[in-house]
Amino acid sequence: MNLKEAIDSRHSIRKYLNVAIEQEKVDKLNEIIDELNKTLDLHIQLVLNDVDVSTKNGKPKYGAFENAYNYFVLAGKRCKNLNEKLGYAGECLALNCVTMGLGTCFVGMSYTNNKDKYVLNKGESLDLVLYVGYPNGTRGTRKSKTYDDVAKGENVPNWFKDGVNAALKAPTALNQQKFTLEYKNGKVKARYGLGVYTKTDLGIVKYNFEIGAGVDSSIWAD
Ligand SMILES: Cc1cc2nc3c(=O)[nH]c(=O)nc-3n(C[C@H](O)[C@H](O)[C@H](O)COP(=O)(O)O)c2cc1C
Repeated sequence: MNLKEAIDSRHSIRKYLNVAIEQEKVDKLNEIIDELNKTLDLHIQLVLNDVDVSTKNGKPKYGAFENAYNYFVLAGKRCKNLNEKLGYAGECLALNCVTMGLGTCFVGMSYTNNKDKYVLNKGESLDLVLYVGYPNGTRGTRKSKTYDDVAKGENVPNWFKDGVNAALKAPTALNQQKFTLEYKNGKVKARYGLGVYTKTDLGIVKYNFEIGAGVDSSIWAD
């Protein structure tokens, strides 16, 4: 499975099997993390076996989650676009996980922030986590906005349409999909709306757009 196919298969996984991720896959994920941290100047870390992140005294603390104890810490140096960069990098990890048979869920609200499990250097902050593990259960369904709800522009090329359709499959906080994508003079202007985590969502959406459209970051207008 490639990343484009992973976009179609991905959905948020909240129930996981009580099974460890094999060392080979952990190594591969850490390689991707290193690359993302280097190119985007981030401090993403993979935490394994932190049961307390979603349970209290052995009982589930956040109802929707089961066996959720592995996660990516999405963190980095504070800057204007940190949330967007973390969304972009997080979605890259989420889609790579799908290609390895793993499931994920971005979690901004319903988790316990166990600060002894990861390192934050001076000036860095954590935005949210991305749970990872083997899915237990079948595919969920969700409502989605339409192409016309989020896309703007005239005489748009096919790659733009493909990008928007991939963007509509991106996870967003509370499934809010508060973004627009406008095609103008060969470039795309991406905007976020008002709401929680909409800057993070925009990074996630931009990653899906690039994969769906088969383009790189140079298509984004300032
Ligand atoms: C930034 C962000 C924060 C999220 N926070 C939570 C959360 O705290 N708890 C939760 O159960 N799901 C959370 N989600 C998952 C969304 O609810 C989910 O992506 C959305 O409903 C769309 O469903 P899908 O991912 O299956 O396509 C979050 C997603 C994003 C992108």
